[in-house]
Amino acid sequence: MMHTLEKIAAAGIATVLMALQAHAQDTAAGQKLFQQRCGACHQIDSTRNGVGPHLQGVVGRSAGSVDGFRYSTAMQGSGITWDAAQLDTFLTNPGGLVKGTRMTQRFAKADERQAIIDFLATR
Ligand code: HEC
Repeated sequence: MMHTLEKIAAAGIATVLMALQAHAQDTAAGQKLFQQRCGACHQIDSTRNGVGPHLQGVVGRSAGSVDGFRYSTAMQGSGITWDAAQLDTFLTNPGGLVKGTRMTQRFAKADERQAIIDFLATR
C-alpha cells in the first residue's frame, strides 16, 4: 500500500509530466503556425535570409542586426531588443511599433501570436 507522501509525490510527478507534454504540444502547434504564417518569408532552422531576415535566436537579438540582410532604415534605427512582449506588439501591428518597417503583415489572433513566440524562443 502506498504511503500518503508517496502518493503526493507521484501526483506531483504526474502533474509535471502532463505540463511538459502540454508544452511540447504548444511548441509543435507554434512550429506549424510559424511555417504557415511566417515561413514564406523567414527561415528559423537555417541562417539563410529570404524576403525577411532569418529568425534563429531572435528572442534576445537586437532588431535589424542580421548580417547580409537589407533592413529598412526604420528597423535598423529602432533600438529594439526583441523579447516576448516586443514581439507580440510587433506582430499585432508591425508599423505601429516600427513606423516604416517593410514587414506589413498583422497577426490579429493573440493565442496564435503567443504560440509562435513560444516557438521562436526554442530556436
Ligand atoms: C511577406 C513576408 C513576411 C511575412 C509573412 C512575415 N515577415 Fe517578418 N519580416 C519581413 C521583412 C521584409 C522584415 C524586415 C523588415 C524591415 O527591415 O523593416 C521582417 C522582419 C521581422 C522581424 C524583425 C527581425 C530582426 O532581425 O530585427 C521579426 C521579429 C519578424 N519579422 C517576425 C515575423 C513573424 C514571427 C512572422 C509570422 C507570424 C513574420 N515575421 C511574417 C517579412 C515578413
